[in-house]
Amino acid sequence: MELKFKVNGQEIFLQVNPNDSLLYILRDRLHLTGTKNGCSAGHCGACVVIMNEEAVKSCLQKAKRLNNAEIITIEGLTPKEPSGELHPIQQAFIDATAIQCGFCTPGYIMELYGLFLRNPEASLDEIKVALEGHLCRCTGFKPILEAAVLAQQYLNKK
Ligand code: FES
Ligand code: FES
Repeated sequence: MELKFKVNGQEIFLQVNPNDSLLYILRDRLHLTGTKNGCSAGHCGACVVIMNEEAVKSCLQKAKRLNNAEIITIEGLTPKEPSGELHPIQQAFIDATAIQCGFCTPGYIMELYGLFLRNPEASLDEIKVALEGHLCRCTGFKPILEAAVLAQQYLNKK
């Protein structure tokens, strides 16, 4: 099938198999490898991206449902020259020392991006619920939760 969708603001046309996952398309066809593949089965959250303003696990999204979708990946948050400033959620992860190997980090950041997009005043409990579908094997949950709260403060100051 021919897929037409937008990734990080750019219109993309691709021949794909209808059952290809969005994760496969992003990483293997478009070489956007910031989105990570931890389990391919919806269990780890490493593959989360924004699809039509909602955080979704890209390993579970099939190409046949992607026509006209608007996707944002971690690369879409990459600093733009000349300022070079990180996105406030990225900066919060650094400031809260919430990154070790970094494998899980893009998934957490995109999950929080989606949460704060629809609910900038999310409560601590709502933040915890949003992060429930994510696994981190090295940093531990406490610094990540601190990063999430700090990110919310940074975003709401802007
Ligand atoms: S790779 Fe998608 S949830 Fe683990
Ligand atoms: S920082 Fe290594 S898995 Fe989370």
